[in-house]
Formats: sequence, C-alpha cells, structure tokens
Amino acid sequence: MNIHIFFFSLTVLFISPIKNLCNLLYAVSSNLDVLWKQLPTLFCNFLYKDEDVRPFPNKLMRPKSEEELLMERTKGYWRNAALNTIADKLRQRMNFNTAKNVIFFLGDGMSVPTITATRVYMGGEEKSLAFETFPYTGLSKTYCVDHQTADSACSATAYLTGVKANLGTIGVTAAVNLKNCTAMNQRENQLDSIAKLFQLQGRRTGLVTTTRVTHATPAGLYAHTADRHWETDTDVSTLNGDVTDCEDIAHQLVFGKTGQQLNVILGGGRRGFLPREVIDEQGNSGVRSDGLNLIEEWIKFRENHNQSYQYIWNRDQLLNIQNGTDYLLGLFQSSHMNYNKERNTETQPSLEEMTEAAIKVLDKQNSSGYFLLVEGGRIDMAHHYTWAHKALDETAEFSKAIQRAVEITNEENTLIVVTAGQLIDIKLIYLKGNN
Ligand SMILES: *[C@@H]1O[C@H](CO)[C@@H](O)[C@H](O)[C@H]1NC(C)=O
Ligand SMILES: *[C@@H]1O[C@H](CO)[C@@H](O)[C@H](O)[C@H]1NC(C)=O
Ligand SMILES: *[C@@H]1O[C@H](CO)[C@@H](O)[C@H](O)[C@H]1NC(C)=O
Ligand SMILES: *[C@@H]1O[C@H](CO)[C@@H](O)[C@H](O)[C@H]1NC(C)=O
Repeated sequence: MNIHIFFFSLTVLFISPIKNLCNLLYAVSSNLDVLWKQLPTLFCNFLYKDEDVRPFPNKLMRPKSEEELLMERTKGYWRNAALNTIADKLRQRMNFNTAKNVIFFLGDGMSVPTITATRVYMGGEEKSLAFETFPYTGLSKTYCVDHQTADSACSATAYLTGVKANLGTIGVTAAVNLKNCTAMNQRENQLDSIAKLFQLQGRRTGLVTTTRVTHATPAGLYAHTADRHWETDTDVSTLNGDVTDCEDIAHQLVFGKTGQQLNVILGGGRRGFLPREVIDEQGNSGVRSDGLNLIEEWIKFRENHNQSYQYIWNRDQLLNIQNGTDYLLGLFQSSHMNYNKERNTETQPSLEEMTEAAIKVLDKQNSSGYFLLVEGGRIDMAHHYTWAHKALDETAEFSKAIQRAVEITNEENTLIVVTAGQLIDIKLIYLKGNN
C-alpha cells in the first residue's frame, strides 16, 4: 500500500511544490524498512534543500566580549581553566545515598558528534550541554541479540529491563522472534521493566516523550511485543499480525498491568487511541479499527478506582495541572509531536515543560519516590532525514529539559541518568573557524 502511495507521489511531482512532495514522501516512508526509507531521502536531498539547513553564524560573529577575546590569547586563561576543572573534581564527594527518585533521560540518536555540533549550535565550542558537567560518565556497548546495530526497540528493552532482545522486539526475551505472537504471549518470555519494579514497591512512575507514546522507547516501559510497529490494532492487521492474538501497544498502555499504573503519560500519538470514526480536538481522525476509544477507557478506569486524574491535549492545560492530580494523560499531537523548530509554541508544550509537569505530578510529599523516563525522541528522526539543524535543535531542547530537572530536584535523593540508547552518526560537514 505504501509503495502505491510512493509512486502516486511521483506522478504529482510536476504539479506540487517539491517541498510538499518531499514532506509527503517522508511521512509515507516513515513506516517502511530502513532501506526504503533512504529512497525519499536521497531523492529529496538531490532536488531540494531543507531551508532549515542554514549555515551557523560565523564563529567570529559570536557575541563574545572584547575582554573574553583578549583573555583567550593569554596562557594564564587556559591554565587557570584546567586548574579549576581539577579543583572541582577533587572537591566532588561520592554520593552514597540511596536514590529515592530516578529520572532516566534518553536522547534517541544523540551521538558524540551530535553533542559536539550542538555545543556549536548553542553558541560555540566552549559551551556545554546540561549533562556534560555531571560527575560520572561511561560508555556502553549496544547491540541486539540477532543484530549488530541496535534499534530503539531492542535497546529500550536492554536499558529498561536489563535483558538483551532481538531487533524490533520490546519487553520480551530473545526467545521471541520478530512478529511471533505465540512466543510474545508466553509469560516466561515477558520482561518486567524498571517501571514495573517501582510500581511493585508502591512508587510512582511516568513517561514523557516527543514521539508517539506508543513508539519503541516509551513502549519499553510497559509493553511486551514481538513487533515495535504494532502500535495500534490497525497496524497489527496491516503488518501481518493476528489481531485476535497480538495485543497492540496502545491497548497495552491502557489495559496492561504496567501501563495502567503509570501516573504520567505525556507525548504524541493520539490517533492510536481513537477509532477511525472519531475526530480529535485538532481535527484529525483516529486510526483504530476495533472501535475502542482508549482515552475514554483510560478515564473510565480512573473513575472506577476513585483516582484523581486529568486528560489534556494542549499546552495551556499542561501548564495549569491541578495540584492533587495523581494520573495524567497528555496527548499533544495526532502522531509524533512536532520538531521544536516547527511547533506552535502556543498550543504544543516543549520537552522542558512536559518534564517539569511530570515531576510535579510524580514528586508528592511523603511519597516513596518515582521513576520517570524522558525521551528526546526526534534527534534520531531528524538525522534519518539528514536534517542537521533540526537534529541539533532537538538536542538543545533535550539539554534544556535536563537542566530544568536538575534545578527542581534534589541531588541528595534523586539520580539523573542521561544516555542515547543507540547512536546515529551525524552527516554534517563542519569547518572549524568558519561555519
Ligand atoms: C513462534 O514461537 C513459538 C513458541 O516459542 C514456536 O513454537 C514457533 O516455532 C515460533 N514460530 C516461528 C515461525 O518461529
Ligand atoms: C469510590 O468512592 C465512592 C464514594 O466516595 C465509594 O462509594 C466507592 O466505594 C469508592 N470505590 C472504590 C473502588 O474505592
Ligand atoms: C498548588 O501548589 C502550589 C505549591 O504548593 C501552590 O503555590 C499553588 O497555589 C497551588 N495551586 C492551586 C490551584 O491550588
Ligand atoms: C507527611 O507526613 C507527616 C508525618 O508523617 C504528616 O504530618 C503530614 O501530614 C504528611 N503530609 C502529607 C501531605 O501527607
């Protein structure tokens, strides 16, 4: 079906602006295999340059004071900088406290070159992202059991459950092959995530993402699936699954034991919660074929259990969450949330705003703590389409969210971990000293 649309798009090449065509191609190809996904990228990069890919401001034009520029020419400046770094390190004390709260930040596709380029994007080589001043750093090996290069699904399984899995599978062991429902439904193949462990201890749990909340990374917290693309029942039947046997990811989020207990769910993907016949708050229709309205089901569950809850869909509502809210479902877009560069800042919240709201709901007085997953999910997606500017801007937004979390939590009882899941190499030519 997708291939059809692809060729149909080719026929409109000469009547629609190339930009619209490319956007359509990107949208259509987003569910295809990696190989097919590259086609529109090659095609569009050849025909049209995304206007977002502008050169960065010239280094010499950076707002640096005359004083700073003069200092950089002296040896004392650099040696003092080094001495200060060493003194800071020596002052650091090991923190042996047990973390009550854990916030796990994941910048999907945030490779080392991406971080370097983002420093420049933020104003210069000497800038640091929020997490670069954290006291401990390490590197990890990422691979799937059956693939050298990890994808978001098997890597989410690894860092959220501690067990490696096969490519494209989530929350199940490597005994489950891609698309095998029988194996995915066997309890012994299903893995408990760190959110589940927190819930078993009566602690709060939540997720925040800029992708659909049913996308691979967030799904790692609550789903057990043999195919990351089975986000809705319609996806299951289109992608060779048996709808009577393979529970889709959105359904697991609302009816699954772990999904049901999540206190905070913030991100995109509203269409996966609504039937085809239902038009959402922004005028988009749902995609479910089973007629279920999962937003209503989520609300029904809260009412049946006397829980205080809020369902929200825009930024205003997010910024005015009521104080006693214990369960918060926020779906801000039909599919993924927009890139920060393209979002309507009046109606769609930033990752930073979502992170702050999530912490507000999770961090209750006298509570025994919480686990929160925050994903900057579109760094990777921008890289896949070779949109360097957007990738760096998403990384800068991710850094802002981390900075905010550091400001409103206490290092004595809260552990903040920042990682990248798996890395996407950045395709960017950077000429030192110029642009
Ligand atoms: C699917 O998994 C089941 C149970 O583990 C197994 O018996 C079956 O052979 C698998 N099917 C395929 C096609 O691999
Ligand atoms: C919910 O609250 C109502 C009224 O306060 C009460 O009658 C009912 O038993 C409660 N239900 C549960 C599941 O706690
Ligand atoms: C919510 O709590 C905050 C901090 O405790 C307080 O400043 C604010 O007035 C409260 N808002 C409402 C609507 O109760
Ligand atoms: C927190 O616990 C203290 C002591 O147990 C109690 O006095 C206080 O009312 C509790 N606060 C809340 C908000 O539950």
